[in-house]
Amino acid sequence: MNSKDIREKYIKFFTDRGHKEIAPSKLVPENDSTTLFISAGMQPLIPYLLGETHPEGTRLANVQKCLRTDDIDEVGDEVHHTFFEMLGNWSLGDYFKKEAIKYSFEFLTSNRWLNIPLEKLAISVFAGDSDAPFDDESYNVWLSLGIPEARIAKLPKKNNWWGPAGKTGPCGPDTEMFYWSSKDVPPKNFDHNDPFWVEIWNDVFMQYLKKDDGSFELLKQKNVDTGMGLERVSAVLQGLNDDYLTDLFYPIIQRLEEQTGKAYKENRVYFRIIADHIKAATFLIQDGIVPSNKQQGYVLRRLLRRAAIKLHQSGGKLDILPKLVDLVIDIYEGAGYFETGDWEQIRQVVADEIKKFEQTLAKGLKEIEKIEKIDGKKAFDLYQTFGFPYEVTEELFRQKGQEIDKKQFKTEFEKHRELSRTASSGMFKGGLADHSDIVIRYHTATHLLHQALRDVLGPQVFQKGSNITSERTRFDFSFDRKMTDEEIKKAESIVNEKIEKDLKVDRKIVKPVQAKAMNAIGLFDEKYGSEVSIYGIGPGEKLDPKAKDQRDRAGYYSLEFCGGPHVERTGNIGKVKITKEEAVSYGIRRIKAEIMLR
Ligand code: ALA
Repeated sequence: MNSKDIREKYIKFFTDRGHKEIAPSKLVPENDSTTLFISAGMQPLIPYLLGETHPEGTRLANVQKCLRTDDIDEVGDEVHHTFFEMLGNWSLGDYFKKEAIKYSFEFLTSNRWLNIPLEKLAISVFAGDSDAPFDDESYNVWLSLGIPEARIAKLPKKNNWWGPAGKTGPCGPDTEMFYWSSKDVPPKNFDHNDPFWVEIWNDVFMQYLKKDDGSFELLKQKNVDTGMGLERVSAVLQGLNDDYLTDLFYPIIQRLEEQTGKAYKENRVYFRIIADHIKAATFLIQDGIVPSNKQQGYVLRRLLRRAAIKLHQSGGKLDILPKLVDLVIDIYEGAGYFETGDWEQIRQVVADEIKKFEQTLAKGLKEIEKIEKIDGKKAFDLYQTFGFPYEVTEELFRQKGQEIDKKQFKTEFEKHRELSRTASSGMFKGGLADHSDIVIRYHTATHLLHQALRDVLGPQVFQKGSNITSERTRFDFSFDRKMTDEEIKKAESIVNEKIEKDLKVDRKIVKPVQAKAMNAIGLFDEKYGSEVSIYGIGPGEKLDPKAKDQRDRAGYYSLEFCGGPHVERTGNIGKVKITKEEAVSYGIRRIKAEIMLR
């Protein structure tokens, strides 16, 4: 059964049973500023698991593309990849354990669906601890379906508990399904440490909320969240114990064999890394990411450069990497991810990045050969001069049995960042799309909004992220409930009042401690060096670190850590309207606001 059939069957099975197929999210979350990538199908659904009403109902299913960066270093064996597709179904306070397990069982074993023989299945359930009891309900459902006792393991939280994705959020006990992947007869007793038993599906019973203090409380509703890795299930159903031999990878492996003249069986690790990384890169670029030195862009750069090094070490020419993009797109034909014509632009991004790196790659590798003992400073030089991502250098030296002092690398990195910041003081772009007149007006409006929200909701409100385009500002902040209409109105009218007053906007460069002493707000993180830029909006005359009265934002209405740019006076902004207030994830809200045309 090929991967396309499995996707289609899965969606058909659940839509036949009253589930709505929901559109998958992009790989880069649009509604969550706390994480770089979607790494599970449930992530975009957090607000609904917490109790908000989903417009499509209480039974949902989809195929969600995911990326797990934690797994980058694991890629190289049969089962790890950074990019994967997760088949998932959800009950939002609708059915619970019994129905969920029955659905899983029927889909796996029925000859109408995956037709997996019962004797090749094993199960694990949550054993119980001081936070939550033994999941006897799931245990008994599996028994009633004909799974023998010896094939059901009771395991602790480490194995059979899922979530929360962050520090807090929805979570719960889970039950996992395993498949016997060897040609030998499966043993009578299930041992989850036996590598031939591979996990294929996970049903999570999300009925708890993990709170800040580490305690658990019951959620408003009992939810089901399931996830099945398409690559793994494809391997199982194609009788393979290597995901890279399935239809989801093999065309890339074959091309690598042709192009390098080397056999897969002699180059498994490198070929798998190249295949995985070029695939993940293709999907990232498709979702709008370009290689850079920050956040998602850095992950993309790291994937592409590591693939380039592995290809070089396998004796292949780097110019085949952009061509592998076409194979990735072919593999996913009919899955709805790529449209005709996409490949050209994706290929170009890959080609540009590889070209940049190609010039220094061979020299960098030579340099590495010369290094007898690596340290953080040398690793930084390799990054700075030859474009070797830190993690790639780390891996190359680990192969030689040497570890790098990461702290030292970071110190060098910070030193350099400060230097380049001083050299180009105009480089603070923050979350701004560009520096056009309208974006700058939105930027100042966002500062006013931040302070107005603190005025209305309290000082626990902090910026969690922002994104500003010429159409709107999007501002994420910490707050644990929906804002009332009245609160929204109030915040909006404060912003407009400050605009009408035509307040002046001042900038000052100060030391971080001085900025903090003045109670400047904003994203305090390590990206601020020995001097910082702050912006004050309001009547304040005291934006002077030496002034006596430093408290209360030095007399300004708004005082924030920020690199700018901003308008000179708030009267230049125009009237602001809050157009949306919504949940992003647990404890984080998002506001969108627009400037009305004058
Ligand atoms: N959220 C669960 C997982 O990722 C289903 O395994």
